Formats: sequence, C-alpha cells, structure tokens
Amino acid sequence: MKTVGIAVTDPHDWTGVALCNALKHYGMKPVTFGFNDATSNISLGKIYAGKTNLTSLDAVIVRDLGPATQNGAAFRFDILCQLQELGIPVINSPEAIARAANKHVSSFLFQRNDIPTPKTIVTNNISEAIDTLSSFACAVVKPVFGYKGIDVEKVEDNDKGRQRLNEMLGKNSLLYLQEFIPNPGRDIRVFVVNNKVAGSIYRISPAGGWINNLSRGGSAKPCTLTDEQERLGLKAAEVTGTVYAGVDIIEGDRDYVIEINGTPSGKGIFEACGVDVTMKIAEYLYHLI
Ligand SMILES: Nc1ncnc2c1ncn2[C@@H]1O[C@H](COP(=O)(O)OP(=O)(O)O)[C@@H](O)[C@H]1O
Ligand SMILES: [Mg+2]
Repeated sequence: MKTVGIAVTDPHDWTGVALCNALKHYGMKPVTFGFNDATSNISLGKIYAGKTNLTSLDAVIVRDLGPATQNGAAFRFDILCQLQELGIPVINSPEAIARAANKHVSSFLFQRNDIPTPKTIVTNNISEAIDTLSSFACAVVKPVFGYKGIDVEKVEDNDKGRQRLNEMLGKNSLLYLQEFIPNPGRDIRVFVVNNKVAGSIYRISPAGGWINNLSRGGSAKPCTLTDEQERLGLKAAEVTGTVYAGVDIIEGDRDYVIEINGTPSGKGIFEACGVDVTMKIAEYLYHLI
C-alpha cells in the first residue's frame, strides 16, 4: 500500500482531514505531519518530522507549509526540494508553491503569459509608488507573501493615501501596488486539479466590504464559469506549475486573474457546492504513484 504524507499545521483542518479520507478512498495510506517538527540528519541521510520518516513516503501533499520565520520557511522549502531530489513526488512542488505564494513572481508570470491581470508595480521607491497611485486613482496594497486577505488595503490618491504608502514602505521595505478593479462585490475562486477545473465558487464580500476571502467574512456561492474564466484558471495554474490551485478572478471591465493560491482550502467549495476537490487530488496521485 502506498503511503502519502500530508504536510499540515492543524491536523483538524477540513482540507487535511478530507485529503486523508480521499487517499483512503483510493486505497492509499495517509500520514499527516507538521513541518514545525522537522529534522534533517545530514550524516545519516534522513529527513523526518516527528515520528514520520519523510524519505520513506511514496508521495507528499503539501496542504500547508505553516507559519515560519525566514529561516524556517527556507528549511521547509529545502526539505521539499530534497524529497523531490530523492524521487518522491511532492505536490504542489516547492517551486510551484514558491511561485504561487510570491505575488510579485505570479503577477510577472501572468503578464508574461498574456493572462489579464490588473496593472501592478512592486517597488521600494516611494516616488514610484506615489506616481503609480496617482495613475491608478485607487490602489490595493498587498503583502508580497500574503494570504487570506490579511493586510490587504485600499489606498486612495490623496494625502492620506500617500501618507499610508510611506508608512507601509517604512514597515515592509517593499510595496506591491495594484490597480483597484471595480467589481460586482464578489470574486471567483477557480479550483484546478491536474489541468482540469474541479469546481468554482463566487466569494461574496460582507455588506459594504470589498475583500471577498471566506476567512474575512465572504460567503461562498455556486458559480458556473464562462469559457474565458475557465481558460484563465487553467492557464494561471499551468504557468505557475501548480498541480492543484485556487485561482482568484475578478470581474471588472473584463476578467482579471488577481492571484493564485498553491495551498488552497477545499472547505468553502464543498460547503457551497458539495464538490470535494481533495478527491481529485487523490485520484491524480493514485494514477501517479
Ligand atoms: N486589484 C483588486 N481590485 C479589487 N479587489 C481586489 C484586488 N485585489 C484583491 N482584491 C480583493 O482582495 C481580496 C484579497 O486579495 P488577494 O490578491 O486574493 O490576496 P490574498 O492572498 O490575501 O487572498 C480578493 O479576494 C479581492 O476580494
Ligand atoms: Mg486570494
């Protein structure tokens, strides 16, 4: 029986539990482990997390890498790269997770591959940031490595907005500034697994809000994609090299891909539509290993 490791932070997390059940459904043995507990014994050539010997696994699914310091994040990433080097399939691959997690890199890849994405600049120059704000009129500032809508802020082209840019640059030494796209108060989350759309939901912001993340009070509703939205979701996953992904699309004057998540939660789409994307991930692995 094939044994598949699932990297999780919270063992009770919906997606982690669903992945375990899906793997069992396909006759594989799931083992959850946390990276907070990892050791790489160089001389013995062993990598383990708690009691789990990672080098003996048949595959690894990264549900989430977990919070970490800069050193900690690099260590987790390196372990995944080493497991891959030892011939163990890791999904998503560390390279794909890194591309998706870094909004600067993913925005570059979208633009370069003709995937419509809002105008964006990443800078540590305040004059550039202020000039860009005035050309956008209204901008969204995001952490380059952010998630769940945390620290995403709208900034207007006025004294207060310029002051805010100064403060944020002082704090983070970097600004990721994106044109605010007027939208119908919702965005679209497209789930892609193995080059196919596994499902999609609208995420509708709470009244008066504009941040649609479910963790920020957004609600999930079933969504039928247009052909264009489906194409954008698949292309965004392809250019980042993600086997499974959650692609965020916003409907403005046209559809724009705003970001891609390489470790998405499957809970919202299951609750809204009964679609269990973890079954598709397990099916993919079943054929792979
Ligand atoms: N350019 C934009 N225009 C309008 N709304 C945006 C824009 N970018 C992000 N948002 C809103 O903020 C939310 C979080 O932004 P996102 O880029 O998906 O970052 P995160 O990684 O934190 O989810 C989106 O789901 C959307 O509701
Ligand atoms: Mg998002």
